[in-house]
Amino acid sequence: MSTLVLDIGTYSIKAIAGKAGPKPKIERIAEVFNTTGIAVPTDDVNQDKLINLIESVIVDNDLPRTDVRLSLPESVISSKVIEIPPLSDAELASAIGWQAEQHIPIPPEELALEYQVLYRPPKSEKRPMRIMLIGARKQVVDRYVDMFHALGIEPSLVETHMLSLVRSLMFTAEDPNTMVVHIGASSMNMAVVRQGEIAFVTSHMNGGQLLTKALEKSVGLDQDQAEKYKRTYGLDETQFQGKVAQAILPGIQVLSNEIKKSVQFFGTQFPNESVQRVVLSGGTASMPNLVQFIAQELGTEVLVAAPFTGVEGTVPETINPPAMGVCMGLLLREL
Ligand SMILES: Nc1ncnc2c1ncn2[C@@H]1O[C@H](COP(=O)(O)OP(=O)(O)OP(=O)(O)O)[C@@H](O)[C@H]1O
Ligand SMILES: [Mg+2]
Repeated sequence: MSTLVLDIGTYSIKAIAGKAGPKPKIERIAEVFNTTGIAVPTDDVNQDKLINLIESVIVDNDLPRTDVRLSLPESVISSKVIEIPPLSDAELASAIGWQAEQHIPIPPEELALEYQVLYRPPKSEKRPMRIMLIGARKQVVDRYVDMFHALGIEPSLVETHMLSLVRSLMFTAEDPNTMVVHIGASSMNMAVVRQGEIAFVTSHMNGGQLLTKALEKSVGLDQDQAEKYKRTYGLDETQFQGKVAQAILPGIQVLSNEIKKSVQFFGTQFPNESVQRVVLSGGTASMPNLVQFIAQELGTEVLVAAPFTGVEGTVPETINPPAMGVCMGLLLREL
């Protein structure tokens, strides 16, 4: 049976059809501009627009409607990693609602809650267990899933961007402390992965779109031109008299400062440790000279996510690999 994974972003809808599991195979892959600019509908009008768009992506690319897997953007998620004394699964299930009330800023009657045990100490040790609470508003999740019902699809999985993304990066417990920085069009999501485990997730409501807008204004380009110039010259000061780089720089600085804040937050959580490397992901990760810029700002090694490494199937040249991490993480999951 074929699987369909979907990442509906504000800039583009990404889809992969293929064989799911730890040894995935890509059969078809598509990236379609999101003409609605909406990732999560909030009313009937934009819900209908998005339904029509998703339907055309499915039909135009001959994508399956079986085993459809979705990932919600962090912008509608409230997640928190907490430490509590070790509990059995049953005890945890009954205690979790109360924990959520302490840590998730959504009223209980409106809350759709999931949780994941990140770490459970061996019985002989008196250390706390670590749990990731993942909350969203029921109304939001219901509306999201309803879009797929309207398309004759019963989603087999709905998780969150960071869980999908971190899976696609295949961390091991031996990896150095790594900050994952996912820069899309309208958001930037960050997580630190420590000993192969998510230490925390944060998000910021700005992304690549901020840079395109700045370029439109300061150099006087239309949106398409600005998009092209950004992709071609990025932060390269030696190109186009440095005009593109200069226009983009203030926006990049905003993003970079947010990354620094998250690095500092990690330092307060784990005082004897530091972030040793950064992995850039999301469409913006491909911007010329961004790697060098972030490396200089943070003083760490910076890598760009390569979610297709070792994966069976062909990926067209038009696909920007770091933008496909969420999809690959969904495809890698074993149900
Ligand atoms: N080569 C490139 N250089 C610079 N920016 C790029 C490049 N390729 C794509 N982008 C930018 O990346 C963004 C799209 O990335 P992505 O597909 O991850 O966003 P999205 O998932 O649709 O958005 P979001 O998750 O924020 O809703 C756009 O702002 C686009 O301009
Ligand atoms: Mg995205």
